[in-house]
Amino acid sequence: MHSIDYYRAEFIDYLDSKFVVQEPTNLYEPINYILKLGGKRLRPVLALLTAEIFNGNFKEALNAALAIEVFHNFSLVHDDIMDAAPVRRGMTTVHEKWDTNTGILSGDAMLICAYQLFENYEPKTFRALAELFSKTALQVCEGQQYDVDFETRDDVSLPEYLKMIEYKTAVLVAAAMKMGGIVANTSKQNQEFIYSFGLNLGIAFQLQDDFLDVFGNPKTFGKQVGGDIIENKKTYLFIKAIESGSTTFKKELLDLYSIQPKEPEDKIEAVKSIFKESGAAKSTQEAIASYTEKAFKILDSLDITNNKKIILREFGENLMRRTV
Ligand code: IPE
Ligand code: IPE
Ligand code: MG
Ligand code: MG
Ligand code: MG
Repeated sequence: MHSIDYYRAEFIDYLDSKFVVQEPTNLYEPINYILKLGGKRLRPVLALLTAEIFNGNFKEALNAALAIEVFHNFSLVHDDIMDAAPVRRGMTTVHEKWDTNTGILSGDAMLICAYQLFENYEPKTFRALAELFSKTALQVCEGQQYDVDFETRDDVSLPEYLKMIEYKTAVLVAAAMKMGGIVANTSKQNQEFIYSFGLNLGIAFQLQDDFLDVFGNPKTFGKQVGGDIIENKKTYLFIKAIESGSTTFKKELLDLYSIQPKEPEDKIEAVKSIFKESGAAKSTQEAIASYTEKAFKILDSLDITNNKKIILREFGENLMRRTV
């Protein structure tokens, strides 16, 4: 086993060697821009780490890890168009730096590049990876559609929200880990357990993303703080505040979510204070801890050494404490 920083560094070297700008530059420059903008590299690191957790060699998982990261970045380029987001990883989003059409086509090309990377595997592994990938990618689209549909609804339930984030975010984290397991040729049972681990961690991760979108530090978060409020996103915070039992909070919140002010600062501040006062912020933090704990419970069933369980646990704990 190696350190998380080592896996990340190896991954970035591999990414740099595979992606260079070529003609037409208006297609490939945005691809290189977003891929090299940084980011936590959470999913590829998990793919490499998982391969070694199951006694494989991380180098064999590099193509799968890159496929997942390229897909993730494709989804961000299109997500930023859909969410009208100006900033990503502290920099201008692709559709703002170039234009929407450029974002659409560069994103499409990235999706194809992601698939292409699986061609580096032997037929049996290729099939297992491609099947998992197609299923996952379609679920991400479904989750994204629900996310957009929910913007114009004010009766979104908690189970509906949880399904939406499972699809738009958690399945990809889960798939990244399962791919590590597939490459390492671990048992089907281990593959299922690690998938569930990743799924619960992924749900906690998106809950945390929603939390940081409101309460994160604008200097370090890398995205526009308050973006979800501007877009009337139905997050865990919103649903919990509505369900808090206070009719005043409910009415105020529904009123605030029915307006689209040109200068959104006052709306953001008002919503933020309702999220705090209603106890929704606290509930969200509890839910983050609870899904992380749920992931840790699954580790008990995994057929790996205790040391390796500790590595996965520490990874989850660090994720819960993130500010970026
Ligand atoms: C952002 O993902 C989109 C979500 C699913 C919350 P990350 O938070 O992993 O983004 P980067 O890759 O680190 O920038
Ligand atoms: C991201 O959800 C999910 C996908 C990109 C598939 P968000 O819209 O919450 O992600 P951020 O906050 O823009 O990174
Ligand atoms: Mg977004
Ligand atoms: Mg979105
Ligand atoms: Mg978000």
